[in-house]
Amino acid sequence: MLNYVMLEIINLNKSFGKGESAIHVLNNFSMAAEAGERLAIVGQSGAGKSTLLQIIGGLDAADSGIVRFKNENIFDKKGRELDTYRNRDVGFVFQFHYLLDDFTAFENVMMPAMIAGEDTKANREYARALLARFGLSDRETHFPSQLSGGEQQRTALARALMNRPSMILADEPTGSLDKKNSEEVLSMFDSLKNDGITVLIVTHDEEIAKSCDRIVKMEKA
Ligand SMILES: Nc1ncnc2c1ncn2[C@@H]1O[C@H](COP(=O)(O)OP(=O)(O)O)[C@@H](O)[C@H]1O
Ligand SMILES: [Mg+2]
Repeated sequence: MLNYVMLEIINLNKSFGKGESAIHVLNNFSMAAEAGERLAIVGQSGAGKSTLLQIIGGLDAADSGIVRFKNENIFDKKGRELDTYRNRDVGFVFQFHYLLDDFTAFENVMMPAMIAGEDTKANREYARALLARFGLSDRETHFPSQLSGGEQQRTALARALMNRPSMILADEPTGSLDKKNSEEVLSMFDSLKNDGITVLIVTHDEEIAKSCDRIVKMEKA
């Protein structure tokens, strides 16, 4: 199958601070990812991996460069268009799940749809289907504190998929899990390939990196 380029990053620059104390995190950084491709992003602590994901996800601004998603530069997007990109095109999974403690697993998965004002029957069914897909059907009414670390991350992944994104950005999603739970969560990320979803996973784990289609190594700028 011929895949098209989903994401293209060209000469991205980002620094924090000004003048002599400025930290240059990204220095003409470029990369690309195809639809359905699973990329591992590796590099030592402070290399700028999290910063890169934040910028790709539209959560932080770059100083210069281009992030082209489905042939549109996300930096040209403003207001509603940018919100749509953040909420619809991209799904985030972080090292620590950031599920809302006072809501059940089902409610957490539904949250993106609720925020979009789309608490529909179809969406509730889809949320249940996602939980089932990740082996969480019997956890729907559990609160995050009642879930294991692996279950929390699987719930977080289900939530990230709720608005049917084309790209998942995962920042050390297994960083706080033991080996068995990591493998389980990873196999769920694996399965996204069949949906044509592009996955960028920041990881320190070599085995995870090797299981990806490609490894992008970031160096300290
Ligand atoms: N909001 C910020 N303000 C100032 N410096 C930051 C900020 N975010 C990140 N940095 C710095 O940018 C560098 C890269 O950070 P980060 O992207 O978190 O790296 P990584 O995820 O690869 O460990 C680090 O030196 C970090 O201290
Ligand atoms: Mg980081």
